[in-house]
Amino acid sequence: MTIIKNICCIGAGYVGGPTCAVIAYKCPDIKVTIVDVNPTRIAAWNSNKLPIYEPGLDKVVFERRNKNLFFSTNVDEAIQQADLIFVSVNTPTKKSGIGAGRAADLAYVESATRRIAQVAKSSKIVVEKSTVPCRTAQSMRTILEANATKEIHFDILSNPEFLAEGTAIQDLLTPDRVLIGALQTPEGMKAQQALADIYMHWVPKDKVITTNLWSSELSKLAANAMLAQRISSVNALSAICEATGADVDEVAYACGRDSRLGSKFLKASVGFGGSCFQKDILNLVYLSEELNLPEVASYWHQVVVMNEYQKKRFVRNIIRTLFNTITNKKIAVFGFAFKKDTGDTRESAAITLIKDFIQEQAHVAIYDPKVDDEQILMDLSDSGGVVDTRPQVEKHVQICRSAYEAAQDADCVVIVTEWDEFRDDRLDYGKIYAGMHKPAFLFDGRLLVNESKLRKMGFKVNIIGKTELAGTA
Ligand code: NAD
Ligand code: UDX
Repeated sequence: MTIIKNICCIGAGYVGGPTCAVIAYKCPDIKVTIVDVNPTRIAAWNSNKLPIYEPGLDKVVFERRNKNLFFSTNVDEAIQQADLIFVSVNTPTKKSGIGAGRAADLAYVESATRRIAQVAKSSKIVVEKSTVPCRTAQSMRTILEANATKEIHFDILSNPEFLAEGTAIQDLLTPDRVLIGALQTPEGMKAQQALADIYMHWVPKDKVITTNLWSSELSKLAANAMLAQRISSVNALSAICEATGADVDEVAYACGRDSRLGSKFLKASVGFGGSCFQKDILNLVYLSEELNLPEVASYWHQVVVMNEYQKKRFVRNIIRTLFNTITNKKIAVFGFAFKKDTGDTRESAAITLIKDFIQEQAHVAIYDPKVDDEQILMDLSDSGGVVDTRPQVEKHVQICRSAYEAAQDADCVVIVTEWDEFRDDRLDYGKIYAGMHKPAFLFDGRLLVNESKLRKMGFKVNIIGKTELAGTA
């Protein structure tokens, strides 16, 4: 029986940080060191303002930090001291070369693996925590085995992470399941059990699923693809609703009451964002193409196509409703993060929408409770290209400290992120209406507000998947 006493996590990001902080919190007998090549990020993890906003994270980190939870840039030392190493580095979509725009960029996984191979002085269990294409463990194994000796042995496990941002701590404390894939050899299964034992400090045994390596790797891509597929499905239906008078909330509710379908992930929206869904589906598409399965590839690709369509459809609807021009009009955007309760903006629908508004020469006033000003400006600017668009962005964008400030003198309000503070029982929409140009338009991309309540105030309301046709015979 292998007992893990010392864990290293390579990558102190949205996954590595919360995941390993929760392990430290639940396993006070295990020393957990989270390392990163980014010294600014590590300094923030060691400060009072953590580098990511996640409800409940502060409590977990502050309770265990410098007791059995450490954040460091000393990658080599942490590798050497660890019995088990999580590789939790980023795996973004490749920007250039073969598979650009689809395949996962595995350069960070490879460099972390090479580092382990180079500096390890004793046997290790190496765990893929990053989301990777199916059979990546094989490449890691080849790199590690090339450096293994009689004395040093490496076991490789796949343990994909299913947390969602905004609810990460809750998801980690009470996961639906923990998935651990291993080679079905005696050593592989022993390592699998050692990792299962860690989780079983707090996760019920029946929620710890063990599979072979490749099933585990593929399950992660499959789960994300299926979740995103549900959103694209309901978003496709939202277009039909708008054209017919059906109400997408009612349709989703009626469908979701079927216990075979379930109610979750059927909320129509302006389009899904986040660092995972698009990237992981494209990764699955690329994998299918590489396996010479073009029909499978195009099936999954349609989920992304529909998501892009939904964003463009929303923008077109805004322009059409504002009398076919938004040039020099002021658009107040409520929310910039890709969902509520996170400061993360990766692939946020807000980015696509606002870039389109700027293209149309509109003035955009943005308010988000958690996203930094600089992050917003960086996301909207293409500074790596031939033309630096930052001056253009700064000219058209105003970043505000409140929803009221953003909506002052605006022609329309666009709700992009479903922050609770934008709900109509929290925000004084009467005050917002009073400060706006008339007619005052409101576009709700999150089905957050009560349309009849706002219509009564005088707003011209436009909600995804709903139309005034709803009340007609
Ligand atoms: P992230 O970009 O927030 O963090 C990754 C960190 O790894 C960065 O801080 C980077 O500096 C560091 N890093 C990269 N190479 C390194 C190296 N060789 N040595 C040390 N540090 C290195 O990414 P993330 O959102 O935490 O995602 C990590 C992985 O988890 C990805 O594969 C992602 O697909 C997957 N995942 C993410 C989520 C999510 O909600 N963000 C959920 C499940 C799975
Ligand atoms: C997702 C997966 O849920 C998680 O299991 C995986 O580990 C990482 O990817 P995340 O991207 O953090 O998590 O958030 P999620 O709650 O899945 O939302 C993703 C996007 O879909 C957000 O933009 C969200 O607003 C949108 N969404 C979600 C909808 O538009 N409708 C829904 O019904 C649910």
